[in-house]
Amino acid sequence: MDRKDFENKLILGNSLEVLETMPDCSVDLVLTDPPYIMKLTKNSGAGGCIAQSKNYVKKFIDSDKKTIIEDWDMGKYFEQFTRVCNPFQGYFFCSVHQLPELLNIAVNHGFIFSVLVWYKYNAAPLASTNWLPDMEYIVHMRKHGTYFKGKAKDKAKLFRVSSQKPKYGHPTEKPEAIIQRLIKVSAPAGALVLDPFLGSGTSAAVAAGMGRKYTGIEIEKEYLEAAKKRVYKAEIQNRFLAGKEVYKAEQKKLF
Ligand SMILES: C[S@@+](CC[C@H](N)C(=O)[O-])C[C@H]1O[C@@H](n2cnc3c(N)ncnc32)[C@H](O)[C@@H]1O
Repeated sequence: MDRKDFENKLILGNSLEVLETMPDCSVDLVLTDPPYIMKLTKNSGAGGCIAQSKNYVKKFIDSDKKTIIEDWDMGKYFEQFTRVCNPFQGYFFCSVHQLPELLNIAVNHGFIFSVLVWYKYNAAPLASTNWLPDMEYIVHMRKHGTYFKGKAKDKAKLFRVSSQKPKYGHPTEKPEAIIQRLIKVSAPAGALVLDPFLGSGTSAAVAAGMGRKYTGIEIEKEYLEAAKKRVYKAEIQNRFLAGKEVYKAEQKKLF
């Protein structure tokens, strides 16, 4: 298998297994939103998790989509990330509970790293004994010499973006506006962006819409199907914006 076999592909499967089949140095940027690692104890229902909002977690425990919160083995994944994306650069959406392990990995690998913040200015004003759930984090890690360019405003670490209702049937969709800025500064035109926890395909759709290549891997068929439709539309839009004549023909196929 070489890079071409994975370019602009959305793959159904366990991403660790798929990553093992990918060639060395075939990816330019890893951009992903992994499961939240909410640890559950046997008798505690949502109470045994490490997340802030019990109701939020309970929603996932009660659903048949536990893959959104299940553990992922960061050590094994980073072995693959640093092999397929070499020199390594990656963005990882995460909760505050995942920060220690991710930062530890960044330090141990000698990466340049930063913690970016998605500030949800419209977070529900819940009466609780804890701080408002109005922030998520994005850990950026990269090796010296990897692509990182942009104006000062593109490099601001705070993303002031409202939390949003899902548009594509996935409960943890991330805002396209955030992903656009990450791709703009870290992946030049034609670069390949890998998301091994694709969900509804936000990263791949944004990459396609910006003329970047993508590889997306998702374990749930329902989410992968949603991602395929979304990415297909983004690709057509990108061709249209690039002034290509194929636009009209593709529209006919779609509708
Ligand atoms: C937090 S969600 C990603 C949501 C995505 N950012 C979006 O905007 O739609 C994580 C996704 O990873 C998937 N997932 C969990 N374990 C996986 C695995 N081993 N291989 C592939 N996908 C996995 C889950 O099914 C879930 O859809």
